[in-house]
Order: sequence, then C-alpha cells, then structure tokens
Amino acid sequence: MKTALEDIPTPCYVVDEAALEKNLRVLDSVQRRTGCKIIMALKGFAMFSVFPLIREYLHGVTASSLDEAQLGFREFGGEVHVFAPAYRESEFDELLGYTHHLVFNSFSQWNRYKGWVARSGRNIACGMRVNPEHSEVSVPLYDPCGPFSRLGVTRANFEADNLQGLSGLHFHTLCELNADSLARTLPVFEEKFGEFLQGMQWVNFGGGHHITRQDYDVDLLCRLIDDFKRRYPVEVYLEPGEAIALNTGVLVASVLDIVHNGMDIAILDTSAAAHMPDVLEMPYRPEIDGAGKPGDYPYTYRLGGMTCLAGDIIGDYSFSEPLSVGSRIVLLDMAHYTMVKNNTFNGVRLPSIAIRDRSGAVRVIRQFGYEDYRNRLS
Ligand SMILES: Cc1ncc(COP(=O)(O)O)c(C=O)c1O
Repeated sequence: MKTALEDIPTPCYVVDEAALEKNLRVLDSVQRRTGCKIIMALKGFAMFSVFPLIREYLHGVTASSLDEAQLGFREFGGEVHVFAPAYRESEFDELLGYTHHLVFNSFSQWNRYKGWVARSGRNIACGMRVNPEHSEVSVPLYDPCGPFSRLGVTRANFEADNLQGLSGLHFHTLCELNADSLARTLPVFEEKFGEFLQGMQWVNFGGGHHITRQDYDVDLLCRLIDDFKRRYPVEVYLEPGEAIALNTGVLVASVLDIVHNGMDIAILDTSAAAHMPDVLEMPYRPEIDGAGKPGDYPYTYRLGGMTCLAGDIIGDYSFSEPLSVGSRIVLLDMAHYTMVKNNTFNGVRLPSIAIRDRSGAVRVIRQFGYEDYRNRLS
C-alpha cells in the first residue's frame, strides 16, 4: 500500500530511505578515507527491511545478545561481532554459529569460554573489552567509564599473561559525542593498553561516535584513525548505532483528546513510556515538526501519552494553530533506540513501521496487533 505521510494510520514510525542513504554515504566516506571498517550496532537500530540498503555500505553488525546475533547473521550477513557483559553457557554454542568476532568483558569469561571457541573449530576472532576509565559522557546512565563500571577490564585487572588466543581489543566509552571526545580518549587507551597491541590484529573503538550529525568533525575522526593506524598496524573498527539512523525517521501520532488542568493538555495515541522510552530515560525533549518551545507560538500544550503513567509526558510545545482531536503530531528523529526498545506497557499497541521511498511514497511494512501483546505473556 502506497500512501502519503498525512494518510498513514497512527502511531507509525516512518523511516526515510534517502536520509538513511545520506548517512551511509558519510559513514562510507570515513571507511574509504581511512580503511577502517564500520559495523552497525543492532541495539540502536535493527529495522531489517532496510538492511539490504545498509549492507551496500557497511561491513556487518555488532550484536549484544544471541537474538541480535541471529538477526544479524540471517538478515544482514557480513561480519557479525558480538559483545555482551557476560555470556550464558546454555546459549554459547548457538552463539558461536552466528559469530565472527567475539568480545569478552572479563578474563574470567575468557577463561570459561576459550576452550569452547577452540573446540568449535570455527575461525572466530576473540577480543577483550577494556575500560580506559576516562569519562567523556556526562549522564551517568550512559557512561561506561564511571566509578565501579562493570563494562570492560580496567588496567589494574588486565591479565597481560593471558592474551594467548586474543586478537583484538575493544573499548566503548562514548555516547552521542564528537571526534574531540575520541581525541581525548585515544591517548588514555594507548597509555594503558597500547603495549598489548603488539601482535594483535584489530581494535574496536566502540560506538557513540555521532558521525552523521551536522557539526561532527569527520576530518578529525579520519586523522585520528590514520594516526592510530600509523602507530599500530591493526584493523580499526567503529560500531555506531545511532549515527546510522540519526535523523532518518519520524514517529507520526494523532491527538485523541484535549483536557485542561492549569494548562491545555493533548493526549496522543502514542506514549513516551512505551514508544520512545529514551525521552523518559535520558531524559530529553524530542523536536516536533512545526512546533516550538512554550510561548514561541500562540498555542501551548503539554503532550502526554496514552498510558496511565502520570509521567508519560513528552513535553510542553507551542503551535501556530490550535490542536484538535485528529491533529497530527510528527515527532522528529525517532528511528534509533525506539523500535528496538519499545514495549507494550498498558497493552498499548506498538506503532506500525513504514518506509518512505525516494519518490516520497510511504509504505506501511508492519502493523502490530493483539497477538504481539499476548505473545509476550503467558
Ligand atoms: C558496546 C557498544 N557498542 C556500540 C554501541 C552503540 O552506540 P551508539 O548507538 O551510541 O553509537 C553501544 C551503545 O550502548 C555499546 O554499548
């Protein structure tokens, strides 16, 4: 079914192929200039209908679980990297069947599983995640280098005599950050772990590189990778999630009712808690097409979700025209960390998923129903 954006059933995520390809071209320019490999973090974006397009540019995916690894293996192809804070014995053999690069979070996990990897007879590149203990992220929820972090081996716990069989190191320290953050991280990583790169084949600089953001310093990123590769003759991987899908999709919602309690409040057919959980978790205020901050335009509303959670609030926005039942609200930049994180709290139905192709036509490719809610319960 081909329709225009104004006619789709709401709520609906709509991902724009042209915007996605624009991001992929920027990422590919980094690959071409530096020879690094960029893989997509499925935790941020896993809309498999657009994997064929992404595969034209990126080398593979990185997964955080057995199911993500299986999705990457079956639907994306290319290299499947996996990192998880800990692996389960009951899943490990199956996981090995999907994996090309396997990153461990501790030497105890490495000791537990290195025999399994060897016995599998598969050519799997194993690596260790390290924690340079250098914080660039100001929000503690997203800082893997904060005090008592469980993510990555610190220098004090690094077992220099237990590297046999490991071919690479991995660090992930950034979140929505520019290349200057990487520039400050790399010297700390090198000072603490550079000596162990002798004889290793690859280093993974993790995700959190906001490469496709307008003000991102791509030249600096390329210089940093080039210089690093001059110092260490290794393959460099980047594994962003957000940068692939940044500004490529919207969530279209409709107003269901307008109530008044000290201010005008519009209740939408979507939910911050269920359909855009980062709005509450991060927290942040999503941009809305044609809307401003309270008072920017004559009609200000609090936009709330359709769950019973008192705090299911998207934010306060102003509009040039009054809202009424049926008005459409287009929430911007809703492709990443939404579909992969949403939930059916209150039994609220998941938003449909649509693609806008290069002609501007919108095709709804997935709709959800009662069975999707029921299948998560027993
Ligand atoms: C290990 C690892 N790699 C990659 C990513 C992707 O990060 P982003 O989507 O911010 O680029 C994350 C995000 O949490 C991560 O934990």
